[in-house]
Amino acid sequence: MDISEQITIEYENVHKRFDTPVLSGVGLTVRRGETISILGTSGTGKSVLLKTTIGLITPDRGDVRIDGVSVYHSNPAELRGIRQAVRYVFQYAALFDSLNIYDNVAMGLEPETLRTLDKKVILDRIANSLENVNLDPSKVLSKLPAELSGGMRKRVGLARAIVGEPRIILYDEPVTGLDPVNAATVNRLITSIAERTKVTSIVVTHDVPGALEMSHRVALLDNGKLRFVGTPEEFKGSDDPLVMAFADRQAAARAALKLIEHETEDNESGTPHAVSIGV
Ligand SMILES: Nc1ncnc2c1ncn2[C@@H]1O[C@H](COP(=O)(O)OP(=O)(O)O)[C@@H](O)[C@H]1O
Ligand SMILES: [Mg+2]
Repeated sequence: MDISEQITIEYENVHKRFDTPVLSGVGLTVRRGETISILGTSGTGKSVLLKTTIGLITPDRGDVRIDGVSVYHSNPAELRGIRQAVRYVFQYAALFDSLNIYDNVAMGLEPETLRTLDKKVILDRIANSLENVNLDPSKVLSKLPAELSGGMRKRVGLARAIVGEPRIILYDEPVTGLDPVNAATVNRLITSIAERTKVTSIVVTHDVPGALEMSHRVALLDNGKLRFVGTPEEFKGSDDPLVMAFADRQAAARAALKLIEHETEDNESGTPHAVSIGV
């Protein structure tokens, strides 16, 4: 897929600490139409980074710009423009339990749109968004989230993200907690949404094979900084031990196993014990 040279998101030297430093100088530029995945162990600040993109968390230092407009140094009108341009797909879909699917997806539209557009047009847009994530509107529109499976709820979350036709979608662990089949479906939908709408996507994920398949670039957040940013090929070929551990769980497992076997050999003479390790 073609991506333009035009930069759409810029993180510049982003710092954020809570009790301890979380982000310590993150810099990244994302081009229009690009899909970039962010990997990293739990608690490294991936969600914090996503939240700085839309002002949910304010950096202590540094800046984030969307199409050249600072999220932190702009006037209310500019901020409204940014809010319209960006959608955030929260972890666990974050649907409203007491609202039916129609109303949940409608939350992705601007209040102004809901007020001014014809009801029939709004229904069409909502139905369209559901169809684009392989859900049958006639079956799900009046259901409550609790009546749907986990995979379907995630797809409703995607429908809500695309219904307002944003230029940027931020996905926070869109496949975490899903079985492999549903995870692959959601990954494929993220790719098809990007291809169809040319939306710029940042995907925080633990699904490394999925990330390598669907992204133009992958980044690895570690210790407050982006330790690696590059294409999937560069990621697979990297000789950074941490990248290698993320790129190939089997290689990581073999390396860990070797280490354990050596330790066993050192400690007791004789054949190494069979060990099982949780990777
Ligand atoms: N609003 C907050 N207040 C205090 N600490 C926070 C807040 N949000 C995140 N943190 C802390 O920042 C660190 C990174 O969190 P997070 O970005 O959620 O990690 P992850 O990479 O798993 O998404 C964690 O130690 C978390 O406890
Ligand atoms: Mg997170």
